[in-house]
Amino acid sequence: MDSTLKCSFLLVLLGLVVNALCLTDSEHCENVVKKWALTSLDHEVKNNKHTLKDLLFFLHVPRTGGRTYFHCFLKKLYSNSLECPRSYDKLRFDPSKEKCRLLVTHDDYSITSKLPRDRTSVVTILRNPVDRVFSTYEFSVEVGARFLVHPNLTSAMQMTGRLRAKTKGVSTLDIWPWKYLVPWMREDLFARRNARKARRTNDVKSSDPYNMEDIVMPLLNYINDPIAHEIVHNGATFQIAGLTNNSYLPKSHEVRHCVDKYKNLGEYVLQVAKKRLDNMLYVGLTEDHRESATMFANVVGAQVISQLEESNAIGKEAAVNKSELTTSFSDSELDSNDHQNPNSDEKGNETTSSSDDNEVKQENMTVRKLMETYEVCISSLRKTQAHRRIASLKRIAPANFTKEARLQVPQMVIQRIQSLNNLDLELYEYAQGIFAKQHNEGAEKLFDTETLGSMFNYSGGIKLQDICLWAMPFVLLFIFFLFVNAKRRTLKVKI
Ligand SMILES: *[C@@H]1O[C@H](CO)[C@@H](O)[C@H](O)[C@H]1NC(C)=O
Ligand SMILES: *[C@@H]1O[C@H](CO)[C@@H](O)[C@H](O)[C@H]1NC(C)=O
Ligand SMILES: *[C@@H]1O[C@H](CO)[C@@H](O)[C@H](O)[C@H]1NC(C)=O
Ligand SMILES: *[C@@H]1O[C@H](CO)[C@@H](O)[C@H](O)[C@H]1NC(C)=O
Ligand SMILES: *[C@@H]1O[C@H](CO)[C@@H](O)[C@H](O)[C@H]1NC(C)=O
Ligand SMILES: *[C@@H]1O[C@H](CO)[C@@H](O)[C@H](O)[C@H]1NC(C)=O
Ligand SMILES: *[C@@H]1O[C@H](CO)[C@@H](O)[C@H](O)[C@H]1NC(C)=O
Repeated sequence: MDSTLKCSFLLVLLGLVVNALCLTDSEHCENVVKKWALTSLDHEVKNNKHTLKDLLFFLHVPRTGGRTYFHCFLKKLYSNSLECPRSYDKLRFDPSKEKCRLLVTHDDYSITSKLPRDRTSVVTILRNPVDRVFSTYEFSVEVGARFLVHPNLTSAMQMTGRLRAKTKGVSTLDIWPWKYLVPWMREDLFARRNARKARRTNDVKSSDPYNMEDIVMPLLNYINDPIAHEIVHNGATFQIAGLTNNSYLPKSHEVRHCVDKYKNLGEYVLQVAKKRLDNMLYVGLTEDHRESATMFANVVGAQVISQLEESNAIGKEAAVNKSELTTSFSDSELDSNDHQNPNSDEKGNETTSSSDDNEVKQENMTVRKLMETYEVCISSLRKTQAHRRIASLKRIAPANFTKEARLQVPQMVIQRIQSLNNLDLELYEYAQGIFAKQHNEGAEKLFDTETLGSMFNYSGGIKLQDICLWAMPFVLLFIFFLFVNAKRRTLKVKI
C-alpha cells in the first residue's frame, strides 16, 4: 500500500513537471500564432474588394499556370514602364518605382507590407495540391536536367556562374523557391549519373519514371525530404498567409516553427489564408482553365482596360522609350520553363528574348480583343514549353514524365502527398467555393466579414492544456492528502 502510494506520488510529480514544460511551450506557441493571426487580419483592407485599385498584385503560387496570365493577359495590357520592379527573392525588392501598377511575383503575401495596402488589389490562382506537388517535382527535375549537358557538376556551376555574371539576367536559379529546389535536384542528378558511370552500367531496374532511382530522385524521396517540407508542402497556404521561408515578416520564422511543431496550429494559418482569399479581387483555378481565363478577362482585364484608358496611360506610356523596354527583365521567373535566355544555362547562346517585350500595347483594347490575343498567345506559349520539356527530359531517358505514368504512381504515395498538404487541400476546396460564387454572382458582394471569434472556434479535439487545467485542483488535493497522511505516520512512529 505504502509503496504503491509513493510510486503514484512520484508518477504524478513527474507528470506535472513534464506537463508544465510541454504546456509552456505549446501555450507559448499558441499565443505566438494567435497573435500573428489577429494582427494579420487586422491589416486586411476590407472595403470594396471588387474594384481594381491602383496597384494590381498577382500573387503567383509556383506551378499554378500563372505565367500564362502574366504573359498573355497582363503583358498585353500593362506596358513595361507600368510594371513594378520585380523581386526575385525578397532581398532585391525595390519599391522605388512609385508609380508602378502591376506586380507579379512568387514572393508571399507579406510583400504587401511594402506596398500601399489600401491601394492594392490582389489576385491569385490555386491548383489541386496533389497536381501541384507533381508539377513541382517534375519542374525541379526538368530544370536540373538541363545542366546534364556538362561533364560534371563543377563545370556546370562554373559555366552558369559565368553566364549569369555576363548577362545580368535573372535565371530560375535566382528565384524562390527554385533557387533551392533546382540546385538540390541538379546535384542529385549528377550524383546519380556519376554512380552509374562508376558502376559502368546503364541498366535501369525500374520502369516507373517516378521511382527510377538509378536516374533521378524518386518522387517519394522528394516529398519526404526536409527541403520539400520547408518549401513545397502546404505551400499555397503559407504563401497566401505570408509565412513562407521567404517572408518579409520578421516574426514568420517563429510562427513557422510553432506551426511545424504543433500541427493543430495550422488551422490559424489556414483561416488567415481563407480570409485573404475572400478579400481578393479574383481567385482562379488551374483546373478550370477556360472559365478562369474568361473570368479573369471580365473581372480583372476589363477594369485594367478602363483604368488605364482613364489615366490615358496606355497610349502615353507605350509610346515611351525603347531603352527602358530593353533593360527590363523578361518574365523568366514565372512558372515557366524559361531562364532569361532560353539556352543560356546550357550553351551560352545568348538569344535575347525579343518578342512581346517590345510590342506596343494595343490601343482601344476591349475584353473581346483581349481574349482573342490570349488564345493565340497561350497556344504558342504552350508549344514552347512542351518543346523545352521534351528536350530537357531526354537527358534523363528512359525516365519520362507522362500522364499515363502518373496514373501508375502507387496510392500510398498519393496519400502521403495528401496528408502532407492537408492545409492546401482545404484551402483549395475553399477556393473552389469562391470560384463558383464568383462565377454565379458576378461582381456582387460575396462575403460578409465574420467575427474573429468564430475563426478561432475550431474543433481540434480537447486540448491537452484544458485537461491539465481541469486536473490541477484534484492533483493538488491528492498531494495534500498524501502529505497529511505521511505526516501522521511519521508522528505515529515518533510516538
Ligand atoms: C569537370 O569537367 C571539366 C571540363 O571537362 C574538367 O576540366 C574537370 O577536370 C572536371 N572536374 C572533375 C572534378 O572531374
Ligand atoms: C528556406 O528553405 C531552404 C530549404 O530548406 C533553406 O536552404 C533556406 O536556408 C531557408 N531560408 C530561410 C531564410 O530560412
Ligand atoms: C528615355 O528614358 C531615358 C532614361 O529613362 C530618358 O533620359 C530619355 O529622355 C527618355 N527618352 C524619351 C524619348 O522619353
Ligand atoms: C543560338 O541560337 C540561335 C537560334 O536559336 C541559332 O541560330 C544560333 O546558331 C545559336 N548560336 C550558337 C552559338 O549556338
Ligand atoms: C482608337 O479609338 C479612337 C477613337 O475611338 C480612334 O480615333 C483610333 O483610331 C482608335 N485606334 C485604334 C488603334 O484602333
Ligand atoms: C516523353 O513523352 C512524350 C509524350 O508525353 C514524348 O513526346 C517524348 O518523346 C518522350 N520522351 C522520351 C525521351 O521518350
Ligand atoms: C463554435 O462552434 C460550435 C460548434 O461547432 C458552435 O455551436 C458555436 O456557435 C461556435 N461559436 C462561435 C462563436 O462561432
